[in-house]
This record gives sequence, C-alpha cells and structure tokens, in this order.
Amino acid sequence: MRNLMVTGGAGFIGSNFVRYMLKKYADYRIVVYDKLTYAGNLDNLKDVAEDFGGRYAFVKGDICDAETVRAAVQAHAVDTIVNFAAATHVDRSLMEPDEFIRTDVQGTYVLLETAKAFGLERYHQISTDEVYGEVLDGRSKETDPLHTRSPYSASKAGGDLMCIAYYTSFDVPVTITRGSNNIGPYQYPEKVVPLFITNAIDDKPLPLYGDGSQMRDYQHVIDHCEGIDVVLHKGVPGQAYNLGTGAETRNIDMTHAILDLLGKPRTLIQPVRDRPGHDRRYALDVSKIRALGWEPGHTFKEAIALTVRWYVDNEWWWRKIKSGEHYQEYYRQQYAGREVK
Ligand code: NAD
Ligand code: DAU
Repeated sequence: MRNLMVTGGAGFIGSNFVRYMLKKYADYRIVVYDKLTYAGNLDNLKDVAEDFGGRYAFVKGDICDAETVRAAVQAHAVDTIVNFAAATHVDRSLMEPDEFIRTDVQGTYVLLETAKAFGLERYHQISTDEVYGEVLDGRSKETDPLHTRSPYSASKAGGDLMCIAYYTSFDVPVTITRGSNNIGPYQYPEKVVPLFITNAIDDKPLPLYGDGSQMRDYQHVIDHCEGIDVVLHKGVPGQAYNLGTGAETRNIDMTHAILDLLGKPRTLIQPVRDRPGHDRRYALDVSKIRALGWEPGHTFKEAIALTVRWYVDNEWWWRKIKSGEHYQEYYRQQYAGREVK
C-alpha cells in the first residue's frame, strides 16, 4: 500500500484523512479524486497542497464516470482506493434522493469494478452507523441486519452490500468501516455541530429538531481517521468494522455544551418541526475494532471543545460558505417557517 486514491478527499472527513496519512507515512502518495459538489472544497486541502505538493495530486472527477476513474488509477499507479465520496446529508436525501442513489450506490459499483479490473491491493469503503437503522436499546454489532430508514442510509447500505458482493463473487479485497457522527475541522455547516457553533457565534437561533432527546455518538474526526488507518493495515478483507466512541450524547446536551463553551445563552435554542423518520438513537458495539488495537483518543467533551475552538479561529473558512447563494437557498428551504412555539 503506497499509492492511495482517496475519493471524496475534498470533503470533511476525506480531507482530514489525507492530511493525517501524508503526515504519518512519509512514503505514501495520495491522489484525491473528487467531483467538487457543494460539499467538496479545495480550501480544505490548501495546506496539504502546500506542505505535501510532491506526494499529493488532485483530479476533478465523478466516481460514477468509469472512464475518468480508470484513467486516474492508471496515471497514478494506484494500489488502494479509500472511498469517502458520497452524498452525505440526511435532510437533503429527504428533499432530493436521486444524487444519493447515483453516487452512493452506482458510484460505489464503478469503483469496485475498477478495483477488480486493476487487481488493487485494497478497496476500503467508508460507511456509517446509520445502516443499522435506529437502535432504541443495546448496541449494533457488525453481524446485525441492516435496517435503513432514510434514502441516505438506504443508499449507503446499498454501497455496503455491493462491497460484500464484490468480495464474495470476485475476491476483491474489500474492507468497510461504519463510523458514527464525526465532528471537527472543515465540516460543511449543514451538519448540526458546525451549524450550531457558527449560528451561535453570530447570535442566530439554533434550530433543534423535535424534543432534542435523540442521541448520537459524536466522535472527533481524527479518531475516525486513525480507525480507518488501523483497518487498512490490520483489517481482514471481507469484514466490516464499527468505528465510534461507543458512548452517546443527547442532542440537547450537545447543544448546551456548544452554548456553554461560547458563553452564549440557552435562549438561542429554537425548537423546530422534527426531521421525518428521525432515527432516535444510534449506538455501536466497537469491540471488534478495539481488538485491532484502536481506541478513541477523545471523549465527547474534549472533541466538542476542540471543534468549537477551530470554528472560532477559522471564520475565513466558514463565512465564505455561509454567505454563498447555494447555502442561503438551502437554509431557507430547510428552516423557513419550521419554528415550533
Ligand atoms: P462531505 O459531504 O463533507 O464530503 C463528500 C465529498 O464527496 C465531497 O468532497 C464531494 O465533492 C465528494 N463527492 C460527492 N459526490 C461525488 C461524486 N459523485 N464523485 C466524486 N466525488 C463526490 O462528507 P463527509 O461528512 O466527509 O463524509 C465522507 C464519507 O463518510 C461519506 O461516505 C459518508 O457517508 C461517511 N460518513 C460520514 C459521517 C459524518 O459524520 N460526517 C459519519 C460516518 C460516515
Ligand atoms: O451517524 C453517522 C452520520 O452522521 C453520517 O453517516 C452522515 O453522513 C452525517 O450527516 C450524520 O448524520 P446525522 O443525521 O446524524 O447528522 P446531522 O448533523 O444532520 O444531525 C445530527 C442530529 O442533530 C440528528 O439527530 C438531527 C439533529 N439536528 C440536525 C440538524 C441539521 C437538529 O436537531 N437540527 C439541525 O438543524
């Protein structure tokens, strides 16, 4: 494993992963392959291009476009694909599911076909705890049935199943990680944590869905990247690995943590109509990846403090996005008239 193609590497987790891997492995080269959708942003990789120019390359392309994918694999002598590319926001999947099915299912198939055709050393799929559906009691194990409830999670599950099919039918050396909610630098401010932090900085309302009692396992993005690295090097082909802290936080408590860290009043919380089909809780059993030697480096409290600090220090990054027409239009569609008294 020396020449990685990181698809979706200009997004939130992908860009953190590229930086992490180039810093850690002095002999690795990475080509980022990304379509640059609204969520893809070369600002996320600005320092990477400056610091690792000789070992880093960027190709603009769609993972559904087989010819461009193959050309990039050939041109960069790729031996490993790590696929982060996806349509990722649950609320958008409720508004316009097409792009989710196209990229998360069809795109995964195109990459798997490429891995098969070139006999790659590894194909790693970045998946999500959402494929198990909501888990009201207990914790999801990798062997649990997939029970998806939103177009996003159904599309991601389609990608996972295709990975297993390519391993079983064609011996493509596939591994999968199913991560919980990531937080940290460069997360597009449609996701709840960067949305709430940046709204609170500007004294704008924080639109909390429903009663705020839903639970998520918020993990620091760097812990997620370390876990992917561990599975790439020690994981067994054909296997999936859950990846999260194994502890959940209620959304209302996450919101209070953000307001307290910023010294802002709780009156900024604005209850809004709930997300349709909102999964109340995800909870992972992470014993399988822990057995490979990985453990989370941050508690929720540490991760949220680091994350708030980053958005306070990096207004240059998010103000550009939030003032753009695409973002403003999305915000209107998503939140206008949704307040609950
Ligand atoms: P993101 O939305 O920030 O980034 C997605 C990236 O994929 C963008 O750079 C975008 O331009 C690119 N992309 C989208 N469609 C593409 C296409 N057709 N061809 C090429 N590139 C395309 O996403 P993220 O939050 O960084 O998530 C990355 C991966 O991790 C996704 O697969 C997601 O399902 C998974 N995941 C995310 C979380 C989370 O909390 N954010 C948790 C678990 C798993
Ligand atoms: O669990 C992993 C998943 O986490 C990833 O697979 C997805 O790509 C990622 O988007 C994320 O999905 P969620 O739906 O959990 O994340 P989101 O940030 O959209 O919402 C987190 C919680 O906060 C959820 O319970 C809904 C709630 N929420 C969200 C938004 C955007 C609000 O209360 N208000 C909001 O405005």
